[in-house]
Amino acid sequence: MEIFHIGAECYPAAKVGGLADVVGALPKYQNTAETQVRVVIPCYDNSFRKENNFECVHWSTLQLGKFNFPFSVLKESTNKLGFELYLVEIPELFDRPNIYSYEDDIERFLSFQIATLDWIIGRGTVPDVIHCHDHHTGLIPFMMTYAFKYEKLRNTSTVITIHNGLYQGQFGFDKLHYLPQFDLVHVNVLEWGNCINSLAAGIKCADAITTVSPSYLNEINYSANGLESLFRMVRHKSKGILNGIDNQVWDPEKDPMLDLNYAIATQEKGKQENKEELCTLFNLDPTKPLFSFIGRLYDEKGADLLPQASKLALSENNEAINILVLGSGNSEIENQLTELSLDYKGSFNVFIGYDEALAHKIYAGSDFLLMPSRVEPCGLNQMYSMRYGTIPIVRRTGGLKDTVVDFGDDGNGICHDQASVEDICDAIKRAIKLYGDQSSINKIRIKGMSTDHSWERVCQEYIELYNLIITKRNEN
Ligand code: GLC
Repeated sequence: MEIFHIGAECYPAAKVGGLADVVGALPKYQNTAETQVRVVIPCYDNSFRKENNFECVHWSTLQLGKFNFPFSVLKESTNKLGFELYLVEIPELFDRPNIYSYEDDIERFLSFQIATLDWIIGRGTVPDVIHCHDHHTGLIPFMMTYAFKYEKLRNTSTVITIHNGLYQGQFGFDKLHYLPQFDLVHVNVLEWGNCINSLAAGIKCADAITTVSPSYLNEINYSANGLESLFRMVRHKSKGILNGIDNQVWDPEKDPMLDLNYAIATQEKGKQENKEELCTLFNLDPTKPLFSFIGRLYDEKGADLLPQASKLALSENNEAINILVLGSGNSEIENQLTELSLDYKGSFNVFIGYDEALAHKIYAGSDFLLMPSRVEPCGLNQMYSMRYGTIPIVRRTGGLKDTVVDFGDDGNGICHDQASVEDICDAIKRAIKLYGDQSSINKIRIKGMSTDHSWERVCQEYIELYNLIITKRNEN
C-alpha cells in the first residue's frame, strides 16, 4: 500500500504545534515492508532546508488562475526521518521564514495543493491513499474528485484528519478561478457559510474523516465554529483516533536534550536533579513545587487565564510555588506574563518564544503541567509530561478528557471542569497538597511514565481504516 501524507507542518522539518509532531511521527510508524509512506509539505526558508541535503525529483510550473508559479519537489536524501520526505518548493510564495500568517496564505496553500497533485499525477504510480491534514490540504479531496486534470486520481482513497476545526481556510468566490477546471454543477460542494470553505470541502469529499481523539469527535457536533451540522451529516464516515507520541523522541532515559537522563526506577532523583537545573536557569526555588505551561499563548489553550490565575495562586499560597511559562502568541498575554515575571521574581518566570530543547527540559524538571484549554482536539503535552513523570493538570475537554483521569478516581493526573481562574487555582491547591505526600506523588508519576501512548498502538487503527475505505471504493 502506498500512502501520501500531505500537510503544512512536519517535525523536525517545520513546526508550529502538535500537527507537526503527528505528521512527523505517524508516518514513521506506518512505514513497513507492506506500507510505503511518503510525506509532502511546503518548503519554507528555515534551518531544516539549509542544513539538510535534498535531491530535486520534479520541476514544473503550476497554474493559479492567471498566475503561473515555477515549483520543484525536493526529496530529503537520507530518509532519516524514517520515511520519504518531500518539500514542495514554490519560491515566490514559500521562500519565507514562517509557516503561517501571511496575507496571501490562501494563494500559498492552494498553490501547494495544486503543485502536489500535479507532481503526484505525473509519477508512474497512483497512490492507494492520500491522507490530508487540516484545512491547508482540504481542497485536495475536492480536486481529486472533480478537477478534470486529476482524473487519474479518482480511484485513490482519501482521508482528512481534523487537528483543529476552528481554522477552516475560508475565502470568497471571487477566487474560484484559482481552482483547476471542474464541472460547475459541483460548485456548491465548495460552499459553507456563503464562501469557499477548504475544510468543509475536504470533509464533504474525503472517504473518511478522523479527529485526533474520540471526545473531540463528539464535541464538534455542537461546537465547531459553524461546521456542527456538517459534522453531524458525515458522522457515518468519521472516526476519533487518539494520537500517539513518538516514544523515540520523547524518552527521559535517552533524551539527548536532557543533561540528566532517568528512568522509572530512578525518577525521584532524576526529576529532582532536572528540576534543580531548570530552577537555576530561571531563577526559581527548587524546594517549592514547580507548575509549568508549554504552548501557544491563545485563548483556545486557556492561556489568557494564566496571568490572573498565576497571580492569584501565588498570592493565595504565599508564593510557596513556582510557575514557569514557555510560549508565544497573543502579545497582550505575552506582556502580562513578562510583567508578572518582574513582579514575582524568584517565583514566576516566562520564556517568550519556542525552543524545542527547553520544552524537553521543562517536561523533565517540572512537577505539574498546566493545560487549562478551552478547546483541545487531542493535546500531546499531557502525554509528553506523563512520559517524563510530570503530573498533568487539565481541563476535561477533547483529548485531555480521553487521556487524563483525576487522581481522586485512582488516575494519572488532576482534572477540572471549567476553563476559569477559579478552577485552575483550586486544582493548584490540590496539587500543592499532593506534593506534600511523596509516596502518592511517586505512585502517580510512575503510573504516567508506564502508560503506553505509543504510535505503534494507534497505527493499526489507521491501516484498518485505509483498508476499509479502499475495499468500499472497490465495491462501488
Ligand atoms: C492541534 C490541536 C492539538 C492536537 C494537535 C495534533 O495542534 O490543537 O490538540 O494535539 O493538533 O493533532
